[in-house]
Amino acid sequence: MNNLDFAERKVLITGGAGFVGSNLVAAVVRAGGEAIVLDDLYTGDLKNIDSDIKYEFINGSVTNYELVLKLMKEVDYVAHLAARNIIVSTKNPRDDYETNIGGTLNVLLAARETHPKRIVYTSSASIYGNPRILPIAEDETPLTFSPYSVSKLAGENYCYAFYETYGIPVTVVRYSNIYGIKQNPSNPYCGVISKFIMSIENNESVQIHGDGLQTRDFTYVDDAVNATLSALLSPRADGLVFNLGTGVETSIMQVVNILGEIIGRKVTCEHIDRRDIDNIRRRVLNIERIRTRLRWQPQVTLKEGLRRTYEWYNSLPNKP
Ligand SMILES: NC(=O)c1ccc[n+]([C@@H]2O[C@H](COP(=O)([O-])OP(=O)(O)OC[C@H]3O[C@@H](n4cnc5c(N)ncnc54)[C@H](O)[C@@H]3O)[C@@H](O)[C@H]2O)c1
Repeated sequence: MNNLDFAERKVLITGGAGFVGSNLVAAVVRAGGEAIVLDDLYTGDLKNIDSDIKYEFINGSVTNYELVLKLMKEVDYVAHLAARNIIVSTKNPRDDYETNIGGTLNVLLAARETHPKRIVYTSSASIYGNPRILPIAEDETPLTFSPYSVSKLAGENYCYAFYETYGIPVTVVRYSNIYGIKQNPSNPYCGVISKFIMSIENNESVQIHGDGLQTRDFTYVDDAVNATLSALLSPRADGLVFNLGTGVETSIMQVVNILGEIIGRKVTCEHIDRRDIDNIRRRVLNIERIRTRLRWQPQVTLKEGLRRTYEWYNSLPNKP
């Protein structure tokens, strides 16, 4: 685990009330930093941020340039996570366009005025589509199959353009299927693992879209947060894109089986239709670049991450 020190550092975290963002806010504050959260609470919830964490909250949108500019004048670093997710985006590509592309452009335009020490933009492994070669390296040709992957890639491209043209110190991390605590299963947009745990605890079958043999690179949220903050502090990250995953390919059925081992009983499955967003068959990332450049590597195995997520779910006072 990297040693992250945020003492005397102030960070704007867009999307800080969301799943990954709330974990990031807690990590920054626990590492001695100050956090300002900008979130329109579209999918986020302030209950995600631990009650012992002190932070400043601004209820607003990254689509509001004046607001973004004002907040960026107050900070040294920006972790830009605010985004419409893949399900929202598939239903309403224009909304996605305005937040994911327009909001990112606003952060970069404001950076020309405010000169932050560094910005990290959180992109997505979904930009690879169905790749030709596994594990997927950063220089694989993107294949954008969904409006969401189009907007996440456009955000990336703006980051590279602003780095090259205006010298803005910006780094891109491509997240792959992050899971873990604070991923609220009652949120219809949340990832598959929290939903499975909720179904198991409610004595229901887990619903699997398709045959369950589709694979993903599942990354525990603490590892994602740690890598994101390492990128935020590292000058070696400027102008670069990093895959952020584990390098381990896991099928949905394997996840179900590991959950069964953790809870000590067989999980029943119901196979239902593929969704329009399930058009990626296999995904696993090559993480050599982030390993060598940022000296980061994942610490949490899938079984350990699933166990932590399961225990967190069971500790909730009002389980969904
Ligand atoms: N979770 C994953 O597996 C995953 C994978 C790839 C990429 N990502 C990226 O990581 C980031 C965080 O994702 P997450 O899983 O925490 O999702 P999330 O939906 O929990 O968090 C996104 C946050 O952004 C906020 N938001 C949305 N539109 C906004 C706007 N216009 N202005 C201000 N705030 C706004 C939401 O309210 C929410 O709190 C996103 O950029 C996402 O694209 C996540």
